[in-house]
Amino acid sequence: MPAPHLPDVVAEIAAEMRARPDRGEVATYIPELGRVDTNQFGLAVALGDGSIVCGGDCDAAFSIQSVSKVFTLTLALGFAGDRLWNRVGREPSGSRFNSIVQLEHERGVPRNPFINAGAIAVTDHILSGHQPREALGEIMRFMQFLASDDTIFIDKAVAASEERTGFNNRALANFMKGFGVLENPVEYVLGVYFHHCAIAMNCRQLARAGSFLAHRGKHPETGFSVVTPERAKRINAIMLTCGHYDGSGEFAYRVGLPGKSGVGGGILAIVPGKASVAVWSPGLDAAGNSHLGRIALETLTRRMGWSIFGADSDPI
Ligand code: DON
Repeated sequence: MPAPHLPDVVAEIAAEMRARPDRGEVATYIPELGRVDTNQFGLAVALGDGSIVCGGDCDAAFSIQSVSKVFTLTLALGFAGDRLWNRVGREPSGSRFNSIVQLEHERGVPRNPFINAGAIAVTDHILSGHQPREALGEIMRFMQFLASDDTIFIDKAVAASEERTGFNNRALANFMKGFGVLENPVEYVLGVYFHHCAIAMNCRQLARAGSFLAHRGKHPETGFSVVTPERAKRINAIMLTCGHYDGSGEFAYRVGLPGKSGVGGGILAIVPGKASVAVWSPGLDAAGNSHLGRIALETLTRRMGWSIFGADSDPI
C-alpha cells in the first residue's frame, strides 16, 4: 500500500468534519465564547521543513484559551527550572479543569500546570518581579517568536468577558493565596491569566508555535533552541497525561498523542519527530474539549499511522 499523502488526508478530514451534524456545544460560561459559530473547522499540520499543510478554516483566528498553558509552562520552566515543581504537581487530576475539591485536600498546591489552578500558579511565577503588563508582554513576545508572526494579538473582548464572569477562577486563586501558594495579588495574577487565555491565533500560527515540541526543543525554521530535548520530552509527557483534564485517558486511547485543549475549541497535538498539529472546532464535548477536534485528530493519527503507541495495521 502506498504511503498516505498528507495533503490528501488533511483535505479529506476537513471535508468530513464540515459535513458532520454533531458539532458539540460552545462554552457559555465565558459569554463571548458562547457567540462563536460551531460550523467552523480548521486543521494545520506544521512539518519539520517549515512547511504547513492546511485544511478548512485554518486562517480564522480563535481564542486559544487553555492551549496557552503549554506556552506559559514552557516560559515558567525557563525562569525557574525544576523549582517550579515545588509549587505545582505533575500528576493527572482526573477531575474537571476548574475543580476546587482536590485543591483543599492538597493544601493549595495544584495537581498539574494545566488545570486552571495549576495554570494560575504558573502565571503567578511568571508575574513575580514584573508588572502585569510586562509579564503579558513577555508571554506575547514568546508566542509571536514561536509562530514567527508578530500579528498575534489578545482579544480584549474575550478577556473582559472572562474578567466579568471568572468567579470560579477567583475562588481558586483566593484559596491558593490563603495557603501561601501565590506570591502576587490575586487580581494581578488573574488579570495576566485571563489575558493569556484570550490570545487569538489561527491553526496555522498555533501549529507553528508548537513545532519546537515536535523537534527536540528546536524551532525548525530558525534552528534556535527554545528548550532542551529533555524539557521538550517532559512537556510532551505532561500534555499526554494532563492536557485534556478528565478526558486525558480517552484522548490518549483514541488519538495517542500529547495534546492540549482549550475551551475555545482548539487543540495542539504533537507528533514527536514529525509534526505539530493544530485543530479547531468551537463545539465542545462534556469534558470541555473540542468534539470534532478530537475526532479529526483520531482520524489523522489513524490514517497517517502517527500515534506514539504504534500505527494501526491498516492505514487509510
Ligand atoms: O480559566 C478558564 O476557565 C478558561 N480561561 C480556560 C479554560 C480552558 O480552556 C479549559 N480547557 N478545555
